[in-house]
Amino acid sequence: LLDSKTIDIIKSTVPVLAEHGKAITTRFYQMMFTNHPELLHIFNHVNQKQGKQQQALANTVYTAAQYIDQLETLLPAVKQIAHKHRSLGVKAEHYPIVGEHLLLAIKDVLGDAATDEIINAWGEAYGVIADVFISVEQEMYNEAAQKPGGWDGFREFIITKKIEESDVITSFYLKPKDEGNLSSFQPGQYITVKAVIPGEDYTHLRQYSLSDSPDKDYYRISVKREDRKEEIPAGIVSTFLHQQVSEGDTIEITAPAGDFILQEKEKRPVVFLSGGVGQTPMISMLKTLAKKNTTTDVTYIHAAINSSHHAFDEEIRSIVNESEHMSYYVSYEQPTAKDHQAKNYKKEGYVDLPWLQSILKNNDADFYFCGPVPFMKAMNQALKEWNVADDRIHFEFFGPKGSLEN
Ligand code: HEM
Repeated sequence: LLDSKTIDIIKSTVPVLAEHGKAITTRFYQMMFTNHPELLHIFNHVNQKQGKQQQALANTVYTAAQYIDQLETLLPAVKQIAHKHRSLGVKAEHYPIVGEHLLLAIKDVLGDAATDEIINAWGEAYGVIADVFISVEQEMYNEAAQKPGGWDGFREFIITKKIEESDVITSFYLKPKDEGNLSSFQPGQYITVKAVIPGEDYTHLRQYSLSDSPDKDYYRISVKREDRKEEIPAGIVSTFLHQQVSEGDTIEITAPAGDFILQEKEKRPVVFLSGGVGQTPMISMLKTLAKKNTTTDVTYIHAAINSSHHAFDEEIRSIVNESEHMSYYVSYEQPTAKDHQAKNYKKEGYVDLPWLQSILKNNDADFYFCGPVPFMKAMNQALKEWNVADDRIHFEFFGPKGSLEN
């Protein structure tokens, strides 16, 4: 444990480090990847370029430092990150590398202001924080490996089916190449795909939510092809999966992870709000509830650009039609002429609070949302405005966890 002097130094220097947070983490990554290029097999290069990952790591380290004498209060946040780390194959031996380069970066950016005393205190604090992550992650590795049909690290899967769900979303059905059992998972969880792309120097890891219920002899992921959009280049892994991977091919994935899962303890109504490919974890949840012949009210609300981008419409419709407790609403941002004619949507434009209030009797439900960040911010704001309690709001970011506040 840290002594009170060290704790004082840490707490008094957090604001200084936070002020230089971006500079420090940017430098940290530069130095770490120069000295340990092998880590480029693990980190997402696109998130690096956009600076999102640097910010997420910096914020976590500073928050943890601020709460260094009561780290247990941060356990939920640690677990969410630990799920991701476990899913990516981050191991205990990686932590000293990160720690060393974080201290080097602090020294580099702060210069003389970073006295030995400060650096030593931060070294100790990092050790304490890292130990929490390492032990939580070790438990997760053990759990993943010990589950029936479970495994540790990457496992080879055959793509048994590749199905186009819309102009931009394609599903991949995966079965273990070793023909062994397949571990169950909690609806809402994701796996990591290791993409080995011809011509690329490094492997690329990406997470995809499992989009089918857990009781099958396959896993299904459904991937949106991220086309080039002005300055943002096309998604390297999504393009690879869509264009270069075929039925019969093998890919490697890690065991399911993640804490965005159905909360079934309370028997409250359930509302799913999804934008675009954000519906993948929700379909798994919906299908799971349908399998159990749920008697709680389930409302599935989906926002798509229009029918050409809209995946899983028939699949959802047929599930919902089977149950008197489930209902389904679609909004199209820009319906096509054909959509206007078919009237295959309930609302034109964005999902907003007045529309939600017209669909739902009251705010007494568990709300789940996932989609593009602007959609998530709008949903979060609408639910807050409707006084939905924090513990009934559940969401998942595709990509580094960001803020929904502004
Ligand atoms: C992701 C924090 C150590 C590799 C993240 C995220 C945070 C974080 C906040 C974003 C989670 C999200 O997406 O919601 C930390 C902290 C660490 C630590 C506080 C030390 C105490 C490590 C180590 C490695 C690592 C040792 C491995 C070398 C990664 C990778 C991601 C990630 C690969 C995925 C992000 C991406 O590539 O875009 N970490 N991390 N982290 N972390 Fe860590």
